[in-house]
Amino acid sequence: MRHFEYIDGVMHAENVSLARIASEVGTPVYVYSRATLTRHFNVFKDAFKGRDVLIAYSVKANSNLAVLSLLGKLGAGADVVSGGELARALTAGIPASKIVFSGVGKKPAEMRAALTAGIRMFNVESEPELEALNDVAVSMGVRAPISFRVNPDVTAGGHEKISTGKAENKFGVAWSAAEDAYARAATLPGINIVGVDVHIGSQIDDLAPFKMAIDKVAGLIKRLRAAGHSIKIFDIGGGLGIPYGANAPAPPLPSEYGQMVKNATAHLGVQMVFEPGRMIAGNAGVLLSTVTYVKRGENRDFLIVDAAMNDLIRPALYDAYHEIEPIVAPKPETAQVLYDVVGPVCESGDTFTKQREFPQMNTGDVIVMHSAGAYGAVQAGQYNTRPLVPEVLVNGDLYAVVRDRPTVEEILKTESIPDWD
Ligand code: LLP
Repeated sequence: MRHFEYIDGVMHAENVSLARIASEVGTPVYVYSRATLTRHFNVFKDAFKGRDVLIAYSVKANSNLAVLSLLGKLGAGADVVSGGELARALTAGIPASKIVFSGVGKKPAEMRAALTAGIRMFNVESEPELEALNDVAVSMGVRAPISFRVNPDVTAGGHEKISTGKAENKFGVAWSAAEDAYARAATLPGINIVGVDVHIGSQIDDLAPFKMAIDKVAGLIKRLRAAGHSIKIFDIGGGLGIPYGANAPAPPLPSEYGQMVKNATAHLGVQMVFEPGRMIAGNAGVLLSTVTYVKRGENRDFLIVDAAMNDLIRPALYDAYHEIEPIVAPKPETAQVLYDVVGPVCESGDTFTKQREFPQMNTGDVIVMHSAGAYGAVQAGQYNTRPLVPEVLVNGDLYAVVRDRPTVEEILKTESIPDWD
């Protein structure tokens, strides 16, 4: 069941009216459903019942502390890609032993913080990074647990900008160099090899590329073991796609993904790690926005809304589709109109959709942009000095503002004019 539904003609998140949140908190605002986050996490977990797995939620998808704390209580670990995300995961109460650290550009200070915390493992993406990590670990008198993220040269991912598993991408150790990288790692006093990691992309709506990558890595694991390395963990990364709207192609269900992975890895005797992000958070959140003006153009009608590309950049950056609905259910007799839905930012790219059919709208109407719980608020900025969009978490009949909207004064306070001007 969906937790964003019309109840008595008004869209609700669980039992809270989104009209109430829009009026009490103001728009634009992100709203997340605790029940949906919980359900998505449990569906993913249940797909691996009976197997030794760590679900390291990919913090980058939605890093709000309230979201991390909820998922942590449900048993999630965390996949982090910066010292900042590490601090968030720890602050939210996720144990260090369930945290994996990914990313191509980890800096020594970030490595030190992660070693001090005692994280589960580093997913190392290059030989220079391996040497840097070894230096930091040796200087601290510890050994860093590592997997190499290997690049299996598999095509996957919903958009060129979010595909990561091709040889031409910046991610992971080149397939042909992987065995040498393990051989080098085995000689280093500050490194402890524990596994292999792969992540091929995001919004993947087909099991075939996952299967191809897993089979390739399974072969690698056998060769590495034959060479004397102890491979206890296989991290398959994230990437499972979600449906963006009722008419969008439906990606495989987590249960189908789970069955395929379980079959493909049964013979390996490894602990599996997963790094799902979008699958957990994407359809657990919406962005609310108010129509500021309805503008008649030369040959089209524009809905100028108060959310913009700085709040939700996915349509501008990846041509992403987000289903949009009015917060008040339209009456059957309401005329349908083609609109371009645009924000107030001074760029043509500040467009959420073009020429889409909606019920006729008026100034002051509130719209709901769906599937905005992942890569929405986390990618927001303050372009045009538009304050960072706030976030709300709903829980049954309750809601809480879990990130405030900063005031313009607060934004300006972080800047200063040097006294030479
Ligand atoms: N693990 C690693 C190493 C990753 O780089 C990512 C996502 C994930 C896990 C989580 O992938 P997911 O399960 O969420 O697909 N901003 C883009 C998506 C970028 C994904 C980056 N990496 C978007 O809005 O579509």
